[in-house]
Amino acid sequence: MPSLTAVTIRPARRLTGRLRVPGDKSISHRYALLAALAEGRSHLAGYAPGADCRSTLDCLRRLGVEINEDTAAHTVVVLGRGLGQLGSPAAPLDCGNSGTTMRLLAGVLAGHAFSSRLEGDRSLSRRPMRRVIAPLERMGARIDSIDGHAPLVIHGIHGERLRAIAYAADAPSAQIKSAVLLAGLHADGVTSVAEAAQTRDHTERALEAFGAAIARASPGVSTVSVAGGQRLAGRTLSIPGDFSSAAYWMVSAAAMPGSRVEISDVGLNPTRTALVGVLERFGARVRVEVSGTEAGEPRGTVIVEGDRTGALAIAPAEVAALIDELPAIAALAARGGEIVVHGAAELRVKESDRIATLVAGFRALGFSAEERPDGFTIRGPAGAGGVAHAQGDHRMAMAFAIAALAASGPSTIEGADAVGISYPDFFDTLDRLIA
Ligand code: S3P
Repeated sequence: MPSLTAVTIRPARRLTGRLRVPGDKSISHRYALLAALAEGRSHLAGYAPGADCRSTLDCLRRLGVEINEDTAAHTVVVLGRGLGQLGSPAAPLDCGNSGTTMRLLAGVLAGHAFSSRLEGDRSLSRRPMRRVIAPLERMGARIDSIDGHAPLVIHGIHGERLRAIAYAADAPSAQIKSAVLLAGLHADGVTSVAEAAQTRDHTERALEAFGAAIARASPGVSTVSVAGGQRLAGRTLSIPGDFSSAAYWMVSAAAMPGSRVEISDVGLNPTRTALVGVLERFGARVRVEVSGTEAGEPRGTVIVEGDRTGALAIAPAEVAALIDELPAIAALAARGGEIVVHGAAELRVKESDRIATLVAGFRALGFSAEERPDGFTIRGPAGAGGVAHAQGDHRMAMAFAIAALAASGPSTIEGADAVGISYPDFFDTLDRLIA
């Protein structure tokens, strides 16, 4: 997503206010996909407003799914076609910037009896796809790629079903797990995925919400299995706010003593909330109140008050549960202190090379920053400010914006419109919270 849009960030002392954040991106993708495979109508409230989840809806429409949206109300109504009943697309499926769209759809389409072509933007076309191609081919799919990268051509499997497999994922990735489980729904027998580090489990919870049975086992390695051929039923579901979007305000409040933010109706799935403990270790006061659970997804209110600023080290074993929050966590150094992250080489294959982009951007803002193959060190406080480039990556734009609040002068975030991928109102919300 190349862009020249620049936003100016002026110094601010604290952040205060109450807010909600946009609907969870990971859950929105999954509900849309499963609603399309279900029988009957699904009504999804709180659907994520960003471009990524729009890509999933656009692809599903090309696969013959009738979808009605009220974009102002963030509601989506999906008329399900039934398991294995998507229609052959007349044109390529454009996944835009969205890795989740491409990898999860690859799993779904592997079990369909037609060929389809999945394309993405420049960033997505650089991201590794072999991680889903390999297990899907073991299940009997045939997938062409450009040396493990998009565009992907998924050849239909005619007159037979996919084979169930027991898969041990080679990278800690919810997208790999989900692609295999979604293909497993279309397979003969029971498909299982084992992961050494627990990743977000929204696919598992969503499968159950749509009426499928899954089995989980977790002593040691966590394993989840699904039997193929299960019919799903359309549902009325509400999507909580995205904890990874809330993370920017939680971190900003923690980094600026005297701040207080209260975020309500945010998703509190335990596979997503490791940031809470990290902020407490850093010295912030954090209160989490679960208000209820819908479709297996807990939600509630998070209150963060900045108190002390400190040093923090993130160990390799913590990375899978914090993968999307690490750019925000770097900004904890904004008022002084040091943030050290190890074991996070996965960051190099996100929407940008997040280790290189992050270190370059923080240096540009006046921080001292070091890059390692599998992580980074950021030392604050922020300097005079400067020009940081988001490189088309939404999480980089948001991390630079909150880090720049602590600089002594104004900063410019180049490519700031990347926030439209997950948080279109990010800068309006920032203005409100520093007012
Ligand atoms: C996601 C999984 C994670 C995460 C991404 C969303 C998902 O990616 O970084 O933003 O919805 O499954 P990986 O599976 O590549 O770790």
